[in-house]
Amino acid sequence: MRDKRWAEVDRYLCESLEVGDAALDAALAANAEAGLPAIDVSALQARLLELLARMMGARRVLEIGTLGGFSTISMARGVGRSGRVITVEAEADHAAVARANIARAGLTDVVDLRLGMALDILPTLVTEAPFDMIFIDADKESMVAYLDWALRLSRIGTVIIGDNVVRSGEVANPRSADPSVRGVQGYLQAMGKNPRLIATALQTVGEKGWDGLAVALVVAD
Ligand code: DHB
Ligand code: MG
Repeated sequence: MRDKRWAEVDRYLCESLEVGDAALDAALAANAEAGLPAIDVSALQARLLELLARMMGARRVLEIGTLGGFSTISMARGVGRSGRVITVEAEADHAAVARANIARAGLTDVVDLRLGMALDILPTLVTEAPFDMIFIDADKESMVAYLDWALRLSRIGTVIIGDNVVRSGEVANPRSADPSVRGVQGYLQAMGKNPRLIATALQTVGEKGWDGLAVALVVAD
């Protein structure tokens, strides 16, 4: 289910609000050139990530799943020149494209890209914790494990954002056998029953189809 007006409205909103710019367009072009899957967040969602970082005054952001660095660039803008975004990517070719995109955006000094499997890298980040904001946007099968690590790397006040929590509505199918859907369902349930978190999720439509973002605040140690 995808309405072409969703994409038209995304374009209208981007034009009206002047969301998107040469560095972000160049990143998407480089991703396409390198054959990366076009599964970045939308430009409007990337601006939301930037705004959340700005609204919180976030200085330290952790991203799980860099892909080509589109969301990374936006969050790096949000933390300012003295902030840091640590972003974790498992695929060396994705990481190479992302590094070039981040450099082209003038953000090499803000972004620290760690190449490796997230479940290997995350334990090494204990010394960099706590993070102010954590964006989980890697493989969906491991989302519960990523949430466990996000909580270990958090403090009271940390915001944890999970991407792709609606999956064209499949998230509400309790019989889904899709491991990605099962992963997202486990993630949402784990957040719901964790007394350290207050969470919500928003369904989104747009150029990326029908999906959603989950947003949670850490309220207890
Ligand atoms: C997929 C992953 C994403 O992070 C996303 O934004 C969209 C799709 C996927 O694995 O299919
Ligand atoms: Mg995603």
